[in-house]
Amino acid sequence: MINEAHFTTFPLLKTERLLLRATTLEDAPALQRIRTNPKVMEYMDTYYHDTLQVSKDFINYNLDAYANKKVIYWMLEKKASGTTIGDFSFWKIDDKHHRAEIGYTLDPDFWGNGYMKEAMLRLFSFGFKDLNLHSFEANINPKNGNSKNILLKLGFQKEAYFRESFFYNGEYLDSEIYCLLERDFNAI
Ligand SMILES: CC(C)(COP(=O)(O)OP(=O)(O)OC[C@H]1O[C@@H](n2cnc3c(N)ncnc32)[C@H](O)[C@@H]1OP(=O)(O)O)[C@@H](O)C(=O)NCCC(=O)NCCS
Repeated sequence: MINEAHFTTFPLLKTERLLLRATTLEDAPALQRIRTNPKVMEYMDTYYHDTLQVSKDFINYNLDAYANKKVIYWMLEKKASGTTIGDFSFWKIDDKHHRAEIGYTLDPDFWGNGYMKEAMLRLFSFGFKDLNLHSFEANINPKNGNSKNILLKLGFQKEAYFRESFFYNGEYLDSEIYCLLERDFNAI
Protein backbone atom coordinates (compact mmCIF):
# COMPACT_ATOMS: atom_id res chain seq x y z
CA MET A 1 0.00 0.00 0.00
CA ILE A 2 1.21 3.51 -0.78
CA ASN A 3 1.83 5.47 2.42
CA GLU A 4 -0.92 8.08 2.16
CA ALA A 5 0.43 10.08 5.11
CA HIS A 6 2.72 11.81 2.58
CA PHE A 7 -0.35 13.36 0.97
CA THR A 8 -1.34 14.93 4.28
CA THR A 9 2.07 16.29 5.21
CA PHE A 10 4.23 17.26 2.23
CA PRO A 11 7.48 15.24 2.12
CA LEU A 12 10.08 17.97 2.51
CA LEU A 13 13.44 16.32 1.74
CA LYS A 14 17.03 17.43 2.15
CA THR A 15 20.34 16.48 0.57
CA GLU A 16 23.81 17.82 1.20
CA ARG A 17 23.31 20.83 -1.12
CA LEU A 18 19.57 20.90 -1.83
CA LEU A 19 16.20 21.42 -0.29
CA LEU A 20 13.44 19.49 -2.08
CA ARG A 21 10.33 21.38 -1.14
CA ALA A 22 6.70 21.94 -2.06
CA THR A 23 5.85 24.54 -4.67
CA THR A 24 3.85 27.75 -4.25
CA LEU A 25 2.71 30.35 -6.77
CA GLU A 26 5.83 32.34 -5.87
CA ASP A 27 7.83 29.79 -7.91
CA ALA A 28 6.16 30.94 -11.13
CA PRO A 29 8.99 33.29 -12.29
CA ALA A 30 11.71 30.67 -11.69
CA LEU A 31 9.65 28.01 -13.39
CA GLN A 32 8.96 30.27 -16.34
CA ARG A 33 12.69 31.05 -16.66
CA ILE A 34 13.55 27.34 -16.75
CA ARG A 35 10.69 26.22 -18.98
CA THR A 36 11.35 28.86 -21.64
CA ASN A 37 15.04 27.94 -21.95
CA PRO A 38 15.51 26.16 -25.31
CA LYS A 39 18.25 23.94 -23.81
CA VAL A 40 15.76 22.64 -21.25
CA MET A 41 12.85 22.35 -23.68
CA GLU A 42 14.78 20.74 -26.58
CA TYR A 43 13.56 17.18 -25.86
CA MET A 44 10.79 17.78 -23.33
CA ASP A 45 8.20 17.67 -26.13
CA THR A 46 5.80 19.85 -24.22
CA TYR A 47 4.68 23.48 -24.26
CA TYR A 48 6.87 26.45 -23.35
CA HIS A 49 5.76 28.61 -20.41
CA ASP A 50 5.39 31.67 -22.62
CA THR A 51 3.67 33.73 -19.92
CA LEU A 52 3.79 33.80 -16.13
CA GLN A 53 0.18 32.63 -16.14
CA VAL A 54 1.19 29.37 -17.84
CA SER A 55 3.61 28.72 -14.97
CA LYS A 56 0.93 29.59 -12.40
CA ASP A 57 -1.52 27.20 -14.08
CA PHE A 58 1.17 24.50 -14.08
CA ILE A 59 1.78 25.03 -10.35
CA ASN A 60 -1.96 24.93 -9.61
CA TYR A 61 -2.32 21.76 -11.66
CA ASN A 62 0.41 20.13 -9.56
CA LEU A 63 -1.09 21.32 -6.27
CA ASP A 64 -4.54 19.96 -7.25
CA ALA A 65 -3.05 16.66 -8.40
CA TYR A 66 -1.19 16.35 -5.08
CA ALA A 67 -4.51 16.92 -3.24
CA ASN A 68 -5.90 14.06 -5.36
CA LYS A 69 -2.90 11.83 -4.50
CA LYS A 70 -1.80 11.54 -8.13
CA VAL A 71 1.32 13.71 -8.11
CA ILE A 72 4.08 14.80 -5.75
CA TYR A 73 5.87 17.80 -7.20
CA TRP A 74 9.06 19.19 -5.67
CA MET A 75 11.08 22.33 -6.34
CA LEU A 76 14.86 21.92 -6.17
CA GLU A 77 16.34 24.77 -4.16
CA LYS A 78 20.02 25.37 -3.48
CA LYS A 79 20.40 25.49 0.29
CA ALA A 80 23.34 27.89 0.20
CA SER A 81 21.67 30.62 -1.89
CA GLY A 82 17.93 29.83 -1.77
CA THR A 83 17.96 29.75 -5.60
CA THR A 84 15.35 27.56 -7.31
CA ILE A 85 17.30 25.49 -9.84
CA GLY A 86 14.79 22.92 -11.07
CA ASP A 87 11.86 20.66 -10.39
CA PHE A 88 11.04 17.00 -9.98
CA SER A 89 7.75 15.16 -10.20
CA PHE A 90 6.38 11.76 -9.28
CA TRP A 91 3.34 11.83 -11.53
CA LYS A 92 0.78 9.30 -12.70
CA ILE A 93 1.17 7.78 -9.22
CA ASP A 94 -0.47 4.39 -9.55
CA ASP A 95 -1.74 3.25 -6.17
CA LYS A 96 -2.69 -0.23 -7.37
CA HIS A 97 0.67 -1.10 -8.93
CA HIS A 98 2.83 1.04 -6.63
CA ARG A 99 4.41 2.74 -9.58
CA ALA A 100 5.05 6.35 -10.61
CA GLU A 101 6.33 8.10 -13.68
CA ILE A 102 9.00 10.75 -13.20
CA GLY A 103 9.63 14.15 -14.78
CA TYR A 104 12.48 16.57 -14.08
CA THR A 105 14.23 19.72 -15.22
CA LEU A 106 17.33 21.60 -14.14
CA ASP A 107 18.31 25.16 -15.04
CA PRO A 108 21.22 24.78 -17.53
CA ASP A 109 23.30 27.22 -15.44
CA PHE A 110 23.55 24.35 -12.94
CA TRP A 111 24.07 21.35 -15.28
CA GLY A 112 27.19 19.28 -14.83
CA ASN A 113 27.41 19.66 -11.05
CA GLY A 114 25.66 16.48 -9.97
CA TYR A 115 22.63 18.31 -8.58
CA MET A 116 20.04 16.16 -10.32
CA LYS A 117 21.81 12.94 -9.35
CA GLU A 118 21.95 14.13 -5.75
CA ALA A 119 18.20 14.93 -5.82
CA MET A 120 17.31 11.63 -7.49
CA LEU A 121 19.23 9.54 -4.93
CA ARG A 122 17.16 11.09 -2.15
CA LEU A 123 13.88 11.04 -4.09
CA PHE A 124 14.07 7.38 -5.12
CA SER A 125 15.08 6.36 -1.61
CA PHE A 126 12.02 8.24 -0.32
CA GLY A 127 9.86 6.68 -3.05
CA PHE A 128 10.82 3.10 -2.24
CA LYS A 129 11.33 3.23 1.53
CA ASP A 130 8.75 5.79 2.66
CA LEU A 131 6.08 6.06 -0.03
CA ASN A 132 6.22 2.27 -0.63
CA LEU A 133 6.49 2.41 -4.41
CA HIS A 134 7.74 -0.66 -6.24
CA SER A 135 8.92 0.92 -9.48
CA PHE A 136 9.53 4.14 -11.37
CA GLU A 137 9.05 4.74 -15.06
CA ALA A 138 10.64 7.36 -17.32
CA ASN A 139 9.43 8.05 -20.85
CA ILE A 140 12.02 9.96 -22.85
CA ASN A 141 12.75 11.20 -26.33
CA PRO A 142 15.50 8.81 -27.57
CA LYS A 143 17.55 11.87 -28.61
CA ASN A 144 17.67 13.12 -24.99
CA GLY A 145 21.21 11.95 -24.21
CA ASN A 146 21.49 13.91 -20.94
CA SER A 147 18.36 12.32 -19.58
CA LYS A 148 19.39 8.83 -20.71
CA ASN A 149 22.79 9.25 -19.01
CA ILE A 150 21.36 10.15 -15.65
CA LEU A 151 18.74 7.39 -15.74
CA LEU A 152 21.40 4.75 -16.48
CA LYS A 153 23.60 6.13 -13.67
CA LEU A 154 20.72 5.71 -11.21
CA GLY A 155 20.15 2.07 -12.22
CA PHE A 156 17.25 2.40 -14.70
CA GLN A 157 17.00 -0.20 -17.44
CA LYS A 158 15.64 0.41 -20.91
CA GLU A 159 12.55 -1.72 -21.36
CA ALA A 160 10.91 -0.47 -24.52
CA TYR A 161 11.31 1.54 -27.69
CA PHE A 162 8.04 2.72 -29.17
CA ARG A 163 8.09 3.94 -32.74
CA GLU A 164 6.19 7.17 -33.52
CA SER A 165 4.10 6.82 -30.36
CA PHE A 166 4.14 10.48 -29.29
CA PHE A 167 2.39 13.17 -31.35
CA TYR A 168 3.93 16.56 -30.73
CA ASN A 169 4.12 19.71 -32.82
CA GLY A 170 2.75 17.98 -35.91
CA GLU A 171 5.23 15.09 -35.71
CA TYR A 172 5.08 11.49 -34.51
CA LEU A 173 8.08 11.03 -32.22
CA ASP A 174 9.67 7.81 -30.97
CA SER A 175 9.79 7.13 -27.20
CA GLU A 176 12.04 5.09 -24.95
CA ILE A 177 10.73 3.67 -21.68
CA TYR A 178 13.11 3.17 -18.77
CA CYS A 179 12.27 1.49 -15.47
CA LEU A 180 13.82 1.37 -12.01
CA LEU A 181 12.97 -1.38 -9.51
CA GLU A 182 14.03 -1.04 -5.89
CA ARG A 183 16.57 -3.84 -6.30
CA ASP A 184 18.11 -2.05 -9.32
CA PHE A 185 18.43 1.08 -7.20
CA ASN A 186 19.96 -0.83 -4.27
CA ALA A 187 22.54 -2.31 -6.63
CA ILE A 188 24.05 0.96 -7.86
C1 LIG B 1 18.53 15.73 -17.54
C2 LIG B 1 19.25 16.81 -16.72
C3 LIG B 1 18.46 17.11 -15.45
C4 LIG B 1 20.64 16.28 -16.34
O1 LIG B 1 21.39 17.29 -15.68
P1 LIG B 1 22.94 17.05 -15.33
O2 LIG B 1 23.45 18.28 -14.75
O3 LIG B 1 23.62 16.47 -16.52
O4 LIG B 1 22.84 15.87 -14.27
P2 LIG B 1 23.58 15.76 -12.88
O5 LIG B 1 23.03 16.77 -11.98
O6 LIG B 1 23.47 14.37 -12.38
O7 LIG B 1 25.09 16.08 -13.21
C5 LIG B 1 25.85 15.07 -13.82
C6 LIG B 1 27.17 15.62 -14.27
O8 LIG B 1 27.76 16.43 -13.24
C7 LIG B 1 29.12 16.03 -13.03
N1 LIG B 1 29.44 16.34 -11.61
C8 LIG B 1 30.15 17.42 -11.22
N2 LIG B 1 30.20 17.47 -9.89
C9 LIG B 1 29.52 16.41 -9.42
C10 LIG B 1 29.23 15.92 -8.11
N3 LIG B 1 29.62 16.57 -7.01
N4 LIG B 1 28.49 14.79 -7.99
C11 LIG B 1 28.05 14.12 -9.09
N5 LIG B 1 28.30 14.55 -10.36
C12 LIG B 1 29.03 15.68 -10.53
C13 LIG B 1 29.12 14.57 -13.39
O9 LIG B 1 30.40 14.13 -13.76
C14 LIG B 1 28.15 14.53 -14.55
O10 LIG B 1 28.79 14.90 -15.76
P3 LIG B 1 28.80 13.86 -17.00
O11 LIG B 1 27.37 13.65 -17.40
O12 LIG B 1 29.61 14.60 -18.02
O13 LIG B 1 29.41 12.62 -16.47
C15 LIG B 1 19.42 18.12 -17.53
O14 LIG B 1 20.15 17.84 -18.69
C16 LIG B 1 18.10 18.76 -17.96
O15 LIG B 1 17.47 19.51 -17.18
N6 LIG B 1 17.66 18.55 -19.23
C17 LIG B 1 16.50 19.22 -19.76
C18 LIG B 1 15.20 18.72 -19.19
C19 LIG B 1 14.94 17.28 -19.56
O16 LIG B 1 15.21 16.85 -20.67
N7 LIG B 1 14.38 16.53 -18.59
C20 LIG B 1 14.09 15.14 -18.76
C21 LIG B 1 12.86 14.93 -19.51
S1 LIG B 1 12.59 13.19 -19.71
